[in-house]
Amino acid sequence: MIKLVFATNNKHKLEEARKILKGMVEILSLAEIGCNDDIPETATTLEGNALIKARYIKENYGYDCFADDTGLLVDALDGAPGVYSARYAGEECNPQKNMEKLLNELDGIKHREAAFVTCVALTLRGGEHIFMGEIAGLITKEARGNAGFGYDPIFKPFGYDETFAELGDDVKNKISHRAKAMDKLAQFLNNLID
Ligand code: IMP
Repeated sequence: MIKLVFATNNKHKLEEARKILKGMVEILSLAEIGCNDDIPETATTLEGNALIKARYIKENYGYDCFADDTGLLVDALDGAPGVYSARYAGEECNPQKNMEKLLNELDGIKHREAAFVTCVALTLRGGEHIFMGEIAGLITKEARGNAGFGYDPIFKPFGYDETFAELGDDVKNKISHRAKAMDKLAQFLNNLID
């Protein structure tokens, strides 16, 4: 079976990826390959950051690898916070402060369309592959719900009356940006195996 490292320190993402890719590939965590490095995310695009992480593992540890990077792109803010979503309100990466800043920026603005975009980058057998996932919706006027993380309480996907944080993980994980990008990765790997 193909062995791939998933370059993330997020246990939820790791579990989710293991479920989606079950039977197709063996997924190793960063801990399992002895990597405690703080991999720099210095690119100005989601694709650039995902590629930096995947290449870093390939170059320094010799394993083929996939990595993801996600951003919330708000139309009225010309795509901000985008690749800077984690540290929108400062280097402390505080989700509460990030949401407050975004709600303040959109105060009085009617056009509240936004999209979560995930890029998954894969290095495999000398090649590089990119898989994108996206979900569009609206930024609410106030935070609602307790599930999820990050900007979930203020993002309402089109077709739903609830925010991601109200919908909960079961619904979110079927329709989300990350689920779509991971499904594309799964399809790609499945085709290789067939
Ligand atoms: P990452 O690339 O997955 O680490 O995501 C970067 C930042 O985007 C996170 O720190 C969150 O602020 C935000 N983000 C990513 N995915 C989600 C999500 O599914 N819901 C809400 N916010 C998210």
